[in-house]
Amino acid sequence: DDLKRAANLIRHARYAIALTGAGISVPSGIPDFRSPHSGLWERYDPMEVASLASFRRHPERFYDWIRPLLETTRNARPNPAHEALARLQAAGYLHEIITQNIDGLHEAAGSHDVLPVHGHTRTGTCQQCGRSVEGDLLWRAVEAGEVPRCPTCGGVLKPDVILFGEILPMDIFERARQAAERADLVLVAGSSLEVAPAADLPLITLNRSGSLLIVNLGPTALDWYATLKIEGDVADVLPRIADLVLDD
Ligand code: OAD
Ligand code: ZN
Repeated sequence: DDLKRAANLIRHARYAIALTGAGISVPSGIPDFRSPHSGLWERYDPMEVASLASFRRHPERFYDWIRPLLETTRNARPNPAHEALARLQAAGYLHEIITQNIDGLHEAAGSHDVLPVHGHTRTGTCQQCGRSVEGDLLWRAVEAGEVPRCPTCGGVLKPDVILFGEILPMDIFERARQAAERADLVLVAGSSLEVAPAADLPLITLNRSGSLLIVNLGPTALDWYATLKIEGDVADVLPRIADLVLDD
């Protein structure tokens, strides 16, 4: 069946990598972006509130939007899908984990070589003087209902997460691109693959005769190109695939 085929793809890959999106953290209670009734679309359009241009105009609206999400993220724990990828990685079946998520849950599950191509919440940057600050300092102000400000110059602080209209962190994305070039299998989990350039990474592997394995609920932009697509909940499917790969 499909689970066995998936396990065989992983077992026989020379160099497998993963690309994950918001869907892998949905079972941890963090809403995704594009599911119907996703929490993130309820009051604001993320494309609007989470763009660099609108952050510059209305940082307070951005922080009102992200405040509840941050609390959810802080309390979230890795789920069996994150754990399955960590188990495959620990056994040497998976190399880089490229993630579009900013929640840090792959690291929390024990994974290494995690490439957060859309940034992370561990640090922030002053929009005025460029000073880098610890995330804790920034988030304490956000939790207190304020717009976080730079200790040096009073400028507005932005967390080092990537907003729409912003360039991806070059060093991290370059490592992700190289991993996609080296790989002969990409496992996509919980992403609609709607947002370039992260969503184009599997095409690099495919262009070099690699395979694409997708585990997702609902369609993705690359279903047509998938070697195998498994329609299902990542927290159910990934542990079963990992069991098949590892129980041999
Ligand atoms: P999306 O919300 O676009 O896609 C998440 C996918 O996961 C959807 O296809 C869901 O149906 C699916 N899904 C939800 N729960 C699932 C589950 N339990 N098991 C399996 N699949 C599930 O999120 P991303 O693809 O991550 O970027 O979105 C990419 C980028 O768009 C984000 O990183 C963010 C956003 O704009 C920036 O903010 C720069
Ligand atoms: Zn400053």
